[in-house]
Amino acid sequence: MSAPETPAAPLAFATRQLHAGARGFDAHGARTTPIYLTAGFEFDDIGDGESRFADPDTGYSYTRVGNPTAAAAERRIADLEGGIGALLVGSGQAATSTALLTILEAGDHVVAASAIYEGTRELLRSDLGRLGITTDFVDDPRDPAAWEAAIGPRTRALVAESIANPRGGVLDIPAVADIAHRRGIPLVIDSTLATPYLLRPLELGADIVVHSASKFLSGHGSALGGVIVDAGRFAWAAAPGRYRQIAGETGPDGLTFVERSGPRAFLDAARRVAMRFGPSPSPLNAFLLLQGIETLSLRVERQSQTAGVLATWLESRPEVSGVDYSGLPSHPDHDLAERLLPRGQGALFSFTLAGGRAAAEAFTRAVRLFTPMTHLGDVRSLVLHPATTTHAHRTDDDLRRIGVGPGLLRLSVGLEDAADLVADLERGLHAARRVAGVAVREAVPA
Ligand SMILES: Cc1ncc(COP(=O)(O)O)c(C=O)c1O
Repeated sequence: MSAPETPAAPLAFATRQLHAGARGFDAHGARTTPIYLTAGFEFDDIGDGESRFADPDTGYSYTRVGNPTAAAAERRIADLEGGIGALLVGSGQAATSTALLTILEAGDHVVAASAIYEGTRELLRSDLGRLGITTDFVDDPRDPAAWEAAIGPRTRALVAESIANPRGGVLDIPAVADIAHRRGIPLVIDSTLATPYLLRPLELGADIVVHSASKFLSGHGSALGGVIVDAGRFAWAAAPGRYRQIAGETGPDGLTFVERSGPRAFLDAARRVAMRFGPSPSPLNAFLLLQGIETLSLRVERQSQTAGVLATWLESRPEVSGVDYSGLPSHPDHDLAERLLPRGQGALFSFTLAGGRAAAEAFTRAVRLFTPMTHLGDVRSLVLHPATTTHAHRTDDDLRRIGVGPGLLRLSVGLEDAADLVADLERGLHAARRVAGVAVREAVPA
């Protein structure tokens, strides 16, 4: 699966999102990446099959192990993130679980930011917990001492999001990477909300990046996907007995992944995990992802700008008791966001309606452009009520502690005209105001 020539570096992001990794590998010269919608690939003879099985780099065998359309997406995303390679899987959850199952084994321990996508939190807390992998969550990811204190003798991964879902906290990646590396632990960053256009965790010291490619990378809400990108720098073999799957167990050739694959050891081990657990992406989805990436910078730049306009407008409204957007000077991570996210602070933010759940319900019913649904990073604007959906399993105490109240709504800002979106928010606030007014009147004794 050798990579075709990419244009000579250095090229700007906007150029690479169109060209990186996808030229010159189709026999017919198709200019867009063909969709290799096939379960498997013909072997020339038994010897050819044998070598493709022994070394997937010698040729494709079966789409669960690798596919040319998926490989084009992998090359492009690796290029945009500044990694040595990538692995495409079927969803963001598959990316996180595959990355962690490559690193961890029963008895290992993870330290994760507690402000993290709920699916990841539950994967760590419940599903990996059942397999004997325990996790401690850092309640204040801004505090380096809290990360330090949570690390134990069996800690084998630090996990966080560059921009946290749903309240938009920004991680000081260089500071947490420094702690991780002093303790010989890799830092795994979910960078779904930032995208490589706004921030590249590997350049800031992270070791592995995962994305839900279903979101901004695909961009159009039509396909699920997930991707793992490796910096190729982490020393998996430095401490004997750790990371056995990558640096301990030997294959039929008597070599470990580190010995066989060098800097690609993690990615090759992850491909084997994906091959066994089977979260393969559809080649059709890989194509849709590639097509989405071609406009990534344009979309994210504009969506971030509009998010800034809407967040500022909402913050000035009396119906709103708080806005969580790191682009606002009122956000505790604003200075960090200015440093790490100079191109924009992303298109996702939350705000809290003073009127609580009734106001949130009225708002969500009244808006016409913001679609109520659980997704983000779409070209269309979306609204979600976390307390009754993604966070419904949390106790009231928990929700209060993490600031996800009954009046909190999460917005994913799309590409509509900003003035139209402000008018839509106004429609929602008008409805919320009326409900809050009724509630106040009802509270007054007759
Ligand atoms: C930050 C983050 N990571 C991972 C995921 C999971 O991605 P997927 O839905 O593609 O499995 C999501 C989904 O919302 C997310 O917001």
